[in-house]
Amino acid sequence: MCGIVGYIGYREAQPILVDSLEKLEYRGYDSCGIALCGSTMILRKDVGRITELEKRLSRCEAHRGIGHIRWATHGKPSQANAHPHLDCTGKIAVVHNGVIINFQQLREQLTAEGHHFYSDTDTEVIPHLIEKYYSGDLEQAVYHTIADLVGSFAFAVLHEENDVLIVARKESPLVIGIGDKESFIASDVSALLNHTSRVIYLEENDFAVITGNGVRVVNQRHKVWRKEREIPWSVESAQKGGYEHFMLKEIYEQPTVVQNALREYLSLSGNGLNIDMIKNARTRGVLLLACGTSYYATLLGKQLLEKIAKVPVWAEVASEFNYSEMVSERFLAVAVSQSGETSDTVKALKKAKSMGCMTLAITNVLESSISRVADQTLYTRAGPEIGVAATKSFTAQLMALYWLALSSSAVEMQICQSLLQEMRLLPDKIQQILDNAERIIPCSQLLAQFEHVFFVSRGLNFPIALEGALKMKEISYIHAEGYAAGETKHGTFALLTPKTPVIAITSPDNTYDVLLTNLREMKARDVPLITIASENDQEIDKFADEVIRIPDVNPLFSPLLNTVVVQLLAYYTARERGCSIDMPRNLAKSVTVE
Ligand code: M6R
Repeated sequence: MCGIVGYIGYREAQPILVDSLEKLEYRGYDSCGIALCGSTMILRKDVGRITELEKRLSRCEAHRGIGHIRWATHGKPSQANAHPHLDCTGKIAVVHNGVIINFQQLREQLTAEGHHFYSDTDTEVIPHLIEKYYSGDLEQAVYHTIADLVGSFAFAVLHEENDVLIVARKESPLVIGIGDKESFIASDVSALLNHTSRVIYLEENDFAVITGNGVRVVNQRHKVWRKEREIPWSVESAQKGGYEHFMLKEIYEQPTVVQNALREYLSLSGNGLNIDMIKNARTRGVLLLACGTSYYATLLGKQLLEKIAKVPVWAEVASEFNYSEMVSERFLAVAVSQSGETSDTVKALKKAKSMGCMTLAITNVLESSISRVADQTLYTRAGPEIGVAATKSFTAQLMALYWLALSSSAVEMQICQSLLQEMRLLPDKIQQILDNAERIIPCSQLLAQFEHVFFVSRGLNFPIALEGALKMKEISYIHAEGYAAGETKHGTFALLTPKTPVIAITSPDNTYDVLLTNLREMKARDVPLITIASENDQEIDKFADEVIRIPDVNPLFSPLLNTVVVQLLAYYTARERGCSIDMPRNLAKSVTVE
């Protein structure tokens, strides 16, 4: 949600912090700020985006500093609530990502002891606690502070009298970049790509003292060694590369994402994953846990595993599973998360693990929290996804779930091989849709005029209807609902009028005839009807107002092609309405609070 950055070294810190914050802007963007330490502490913060703050910055020669990009949890976006936060002396600055649950109690205690607070945030207690405990040893003061905190945090401390940065993490990610006589910190590696490719991922409850010459990591008061790693992503992968928006670039990367997944999975060896673990699950069942778009991936995953692998599967919204009485000790629990940091999903996986489940993480981010919790991890390797709306990461998750279903398949090897053969054709078929993307624009221009739309389908494409509706609402702000077409008559029909367009995803499978019957019933209520259909489907022309064609494909794989169409529909509709596509209002890329 929020993002934190820091720099200490021989260069001017300010431009580095600004650049890094720009890269983290997808995590939150309601306010931002930096603190710089030369001979004295300098604080610059405000509501709005970093590019706006940057215009008001004057040059500063300080060689160390910290920065923050905020997604409000405690207190509305305002200059006072923006980070960094200071102590009473103005010598200690702190940026924080996470939630301090006991902040109210700490604040009351500190106020009684004479501290003054200027913001509504939970974070502000941290610099005041450090001030309270500081008597010349900053490390000790931070240790004592951490002992008082209940909640989750990744925070960085800058102190006027100490030529170091101190950071600590608990349940919120933090990575340290290693340069030549300089060091960096960030909530995630995309902020570091321009500066270094060498990183250290901090682990749970790590505390680090950082100088320009190196890093000392401590856990439970003992010095610990953390392996230095190479960032697997290129600088270009986190740039727009000529596209108008990151979202469009990421949509267009999908043929490559599918190609890479195929290369990795086709041997059925699955990058070292212990397949037996999954095969064992056949007798027990699989529990899929996720949120948002990733949850919709699991809804398709459930159908695939049940259909191909003949495994009983439960797909649960992580935030609901966390408060349910569901007993699951005999399952393989699979958590699916692009970021690997979604708080509800991490919590759900921990819960399943504590119940005795075997655990698997499917994630796009190396060393992310769910991969630390899970017994095994399947990396989707879609590359950095910057647009808040998930696109290529969803496709990569679907590929992982297809692989999981096929590799634990009860289907004969020969059939399995022929399905894999068909999968090899998918990148080209997706490319064909992208090559004809302009044909989707007139449908988006039509949709852009409405305030309510429905996405409907049945069977394997029902999760894609849900995902289409989510994409549409989050970036175009049109109220969109995804529906199982058979369910629409049980209430939703009351809303159908010429002002409620319906987007129907069809596929020539066992749901086709009954879906067409449903669509005819809707058409009889005069809805504008846009369908997504196979290039070979002649029947649909007879009553749909618009037909968006996809290449002929085995219906089992049609969700992968239909996904690309609903993404483009949402993208062009949002563009038509002039929306902030990469950073939709009120949303953050990774949701690290419950
Ligand atoms: O990082 P995750 O996959 O765990 O994120 C879960 C959701 O927050 C995410 O899929 C969200 O729904 C998408 N950004 C929507 O496009």
